[in-house]
Amino acid sequence: MDLGLGGKIAIVTGASAGIGLACSRALYMEGASVVMVARDSVRLQKAADSIVGNSAASEIPSRIVMVAGDMGDPATSKTVVSTALEHYGRIDIVINNAGSAKAGAFFELSEDVFTEAWNFKLLGYIRLVKEAAPHMIDQKDGRIVNIVGGAGRTPNPNFLAGSTANAALLNFTRGISKELAKSNVRINAISPGSTATERAETLTRQHAQASGISYDEQKTLMNKSIPLGHLVDPDEIASMALLLVSDRVPSITGTEIVIDGGQQPGV
Ligand SMILES: NC(=O)c1ccc[n+]([C@@H]2O[C@H](COP(=O)([O-])OP(=O)(O)OC[C@H]3O[C@@H](n4cnc5c(N)ncnc54)[C@H](OP(=O)(O)O)[C@@H]3O)[C@@H](O)[C@H]2O)c1
Repeated sequence: MDLGLGGKIAIVTGASAGIGLACSRALYMEGASVVMVARDSVRLQKAADSIVGNSAASEIPSRIVMVAGDMGDPATSKTVVSTALEHYGRIDIVINNAGSAKAGAFFELSEDVFTEAWNFKLLGYIRLVKEAAPHMIDQKDGRIVNIVGGAGRTPNPNFLAGSTANAALLNFTRGISKELAKSNVRINAISPGSTATERAETLTRQHAQASGISYDEQKTLMNKSIPLGHLVDPDEIASMALLLVSDRVPSITGTEIVIDGGQQPGV
């Protein structure tokens, strides 16, 4: 399937590992240029090297630009957008992906855990849309994907900082889609279920602690809760993200695609 992404300019946050790295690699393989964002510049460099299949920093081709920054800091969204514009003169695609929240028993979590999650994931995504979308509106074309998470619809008492941020992001995605649609800018959410990344390992440890069970017991419980019987592969999330930012389905906006092995209960 020709996705028509050659020559497009993309921003991917949380790009040095997991889902963000899978999205960056997939976009690069399709011929897009990618502005990769994460905090640790050494890991970011390694991720970029792994994409181009060469460990020499000097050989990173002009289709990858790295920004080392914290997406919880409002200044980073501005830097990311200005860097993309300086290098490429336009922004076609944003994959909002850098986000996390601590899991833990509700009565043991401090308020800071909530404000950190809301600032980093919820406001982080909103800020980047606010910075990047005006350029897409001027171009009368743009595509945004927010990587959210199944807890937005299926809250977990041991993950309420993340669940509430995700629920708000689904609301934001749907709400802003109406405004952006006037200028042919599309925005959608992908909600991964348990996906095989470092973050899934961390969350499993935190959930085990909150429930007073071992890591292995928590892992067994999680695997049993997935009807298809396996974690999601980050490349699956990347494939769906590419479809959503392509011209293959140009009428889709404001929606959420759930990729979770059938884990989500209810309709
Ligand atoms: N994995 C799952 O099971 C799962 C399920 C549902 C939703 N999600 C969502 O999917 C997204 C990606 O998760 P993942 O599992 O791929 O995570 P991951 O494997 O832990 O990778 C996280 C990436 O984000 C970067 N990052 C972390 N904090 C950052 C910050 N403050 N500013 C900029 N970059 C930052 C990391 O690099 P640095 O540490 O160097 O910054 C790394 O590149 C998240 O929004 C997560 O909530 C994941």
